[in-house]
Amino acid sequence: MTSIDQAGTHPLGSRRVRRLGYGAMQLAGPGVFGPPKDREAAVAVLRAAVAGGVDHIDTSDFYGPHETNRIIREALAPYPAGLTLVTKVGARRDDRGAWLPAASREALTQAVHDNLRHLGLEVLDVVNFRSMLDVHGPAEGSIAAPLAVLADLQRQGLIRHIGLSNVTPAQVAEGRSICEIACVQNQYNLAHRGDDALIGDLARDGIPYVPFFPLGGFSPLQSSALSEVAGRLGATPMQVALAWLLRRSPNILLIPGTASVVHLRENLAAAEVALPDEMAAVLDRIAAENAAA
Ligand SMILES: NC(=O)c1ccc[n+]([C@@H]2O[C@H](COP(=O)([O-])OP(=O)(O)OC[C@H]3O[C@@H](n4cnc5c(N)ncnc54)[C@H](OP(=O)(O)O)[C@@H]3O)[C@@H](O)[C@H]2O)c1
Repeated sequence: MTSIDQAGTHPLGSRRVRRLGYGAMQLAGPGVFGPPKDREAAVAVLRAAVAGGVDHIDTSDFYGPHETNRIIREALAPYPAGLTLVTKVGARRDDRGAWLPAASREALTQAVHDNLRHLGLEVLDVVNFRSMLDVHGPAEGSIAAPLAVLADLQRQGLIRHIGLSNVTPAQVAEGRSICEIACVQNQYNLAHRGDDALIGDLARDGIPYVPFFPLGGFSPLQSSALSEVAGRLGATPMQVALAWLLRRSPNILLIPGTASVVHLRENLAAAEVALPDEMAAVLDRIAAENAAA
């Protein structure tokens, strides 16, 4: 048993995965654009993740672009049995790195083929449709057309499961009327709790919720309450932020991102941090402070 087994497992698509996984976005260059500054270190992080028990890795061909998927293939192929690679489509980068929507039939089909080629796979485990109606957060609008394209690609055998990212509850409901939705990936962490109700709804139906920016993203979370709890538990603030998410709902699967083996090991050890009720209540103040700010 690895230490991350303490966090338990949850179904994701047709497999069960450990609730502590890894997000590969930070492996690409600065701003997730261009090659990594240290390719060998990036390969080492991925190998350390799998050696540490990670069986769920989140990626996209638009990280780099292409770079992150190529590093994953170099580090891990032939892939261990039971490793679930989750990718996402629906966006692209321009020559300067700006994020643009890419949700036409042609763009989605190209993106699925790019992911297959760069990861060295014949079928993708899970493909999230990443809505770009607003790049910064969920925005209302129909996602029926792009989901119909992904459902076609699924019927062709190129995709096993379809998920959603950066979506509203109404879009989750629309998506579920079109195809089976394997997971939802939205921004959520101690200080960003807009999806509290959605997480509960998905938990009731056994659908995993995968928070992106679980540690706060490019500017990791900082708060006196977090530091206070971490100090009392003998853990680091990042471990406490992850332990809070694990405790928050059983359908939450974590994909913290890092380009550092030291941080990776620290994050996986968050599975061993038990968060008592009174300390979880202290942490809930962070969301309240944030809402009041
Ligand atoms: N669907 C979407 O739109 C979307 C958007 C963003 C991200 N994602 C996915 O979500 C995953 C997670 O998000 P993220 O990586 O952007 O953000 P994150 O996991 O919230 O935080 C990553 C940041 O925290 C730092 N960090 C990680 N572990 C740390 C530790 N133990 N101590 C101190 N600092 C630590 C990292 O720096 P170091 O490298 O120095 O450790 C990095 O700056 C991504 O990898 C990606 O797969 C999806």
